[in-house]
Amino acid sequence: MKRIAIFASGNGSNAENIIRYFQTGDRGGEVAIVITNKPDAPVIERAESLGVEAVVLPAADIRNPEIIMPLLAAHRIDLIVLAGFLLMIPEFITERYAGRIVNIHPSLLPKYGGKGMYGRHVHEAVVAAGERETGITVHYVSEQCDGGEHIFQTSVALSTDDIPADVEAKIHQLEKLHFPRVIAEILRSLPDGQFS
Ligand code: GRF
Repeated sequence: MKRIAIFASGNGSNAENIIRYFQTGDRGGEVAIVITNKPDAPVIERAESLGVEAVVLPAADIRNPEIIMPLLAAHRIDLIVLAGFLLMIPEFITERYAGRIVNIHPSLLPKYGGKGMYGRHVHEAVVAAGERETGITVHYVSEQCDGGEHIFQTSVALSTDDIPADVEAKIHQLEKLHFPRVIAEILRSLPDGQFS
């Protein structure tokens, strides 16, 4: 059974959906820990109510290899999943977990990615540009903001009267439907045996 760490900063609806998915039947993985940088993030309650340990680490601790690396190793983490995590991942983590750290971005990257493009800002930009479609991108995480090889993309049509909240709802639907399944596929592609 492969072990997943989810990093999340906020609401955590994706985190909850992923936890539930891997708690249902044998899907080759389990969420071992949720790590957040925000002490008041709703994701904490969501994880704990499903029996998953949630750890709050201030940004300084996430950037400190002597704190974060032993924590990941103690939980024997095979894959790190970023689900609404708003801090940059330090290079020592992307190097150690190369090919084992993925993010979901709520647009069809490279469109609407990069600095400042997170949450509602993405959907506002999509509406302002008059896009007829948007979508989600699951990608490996590199040192570059929203960089890294794409693993999966899918799109959804927009209507001319969609406001950012409508776009967000459509994106959340796509995320709920696809993200856990894509994670399960990534787990299957990892070599057997303990990684950390
Ligand atoms: C999602 O739209 C995800 O694509 C983006 O941040 C949002 C997080 O939502 N990276 P939630 O916290 O999972 O509800």
